[in-house]
Amino acid sequence: MEKYIVVMDSGIGGASILKEIRNLLPNQKYIYFADTRNAPYGNKTKNKILEIVVKRVEKLNRKKQIGVLVLACNTASCVCSKLLRQTFSFPIVCVEPPIKKAVEQGYKNIVVLATPQTLKTNEIVNQYSKNPNLKIEKVSPKNLASIIDSNLKNLSVAEKTIKESLETKEFDAVVLGCTHYHFVKENISKVCKKPVISCEKEVANQVEKIVKIENLPKTKAKL
Ligand code: DGL
Repeated sequence: MEKYIVVMDSGIGGASILKEIRNLLPNQKYIYFADTRNAPYGNKTKNKILEIVVKRVEKLNRKKQIGVLVLACNTASCVCSKLLRQTFSFPIVCVEPPIKKAVEQGYKNIVVLATPQTLKTNEIVNQYSKNPNLKIEKVSPKNLASIIDSNLKNLSVAEKTIKESLETKEFDAVVLGCTHYHFVKENISKVCKKPVISCEKEVANQVEKIVKIENLPKTKAKL
C-alpha cells in the first residue's frame, strides 16, 4: 500500500508548511487535511482539541497509510503531540512557535502571536517567558485564524485586526505561533516594520530528514 505524507491543520494554515515540504520533496504523495468542520481549534479546551484531533487522525489512518504525519498546527501540536505519539507508530512532525530561532538571532524583546490555547499551553513559549533577560509578550489577535480562513482573498480584513493587536506594543521582532498567520506575514511586517519570524523551512527540513530515514518510496511528480 502507498504511504502518504499527511499534513493536517484546522484550516488553510498548514498549506504554508505543505508548500515548503513539496518544494523539497516533489515526488512524495501528499494528503492535505483541513479540519474545517471543527475550526478554529485555538479557542477550544485542551480536552476538546485532543478528542477532535485523535479522532481525525484515527479516521485518516484507517483510510490511507500514513508515512509521516505533519501536524501543521501549533495549537494541535502543543496539546496533542504526546498522546498522538503514544497512540500511533508512524512518525509525527509537530510545529511550534520559533522563539528559539528569534532569540538565536539576537532579539530580546519579542511578541509571540498565537492562538489563546497555544499561548497557554506551549512549553517553549512559557519557558522563554521566564528568562529574565528576555521580554516575551504573548498576543492573540482576536479570531485571526478564522478571519484568514474566510478572507484569504482580501487580507486587508486581517491586517486591521493585526494593527489593533500590535499598535500599542513595543518590540523588536514578531514570532509566528500559528500557521494561519504565515499567510499574513507581509501584512504583519507592513504594520509593525519589524522582522517576522516563522518556521515553515525548518519544519520542511525535518520532514525531509524523516522521509530519508523512513525510506518512503518516491513516485512520479504530480504537482
Ligand atoms: N493553524 C493553527 C495553529 O497553528 C490553528 C488555528 C485555529 O484553528 O485556531 O495554531
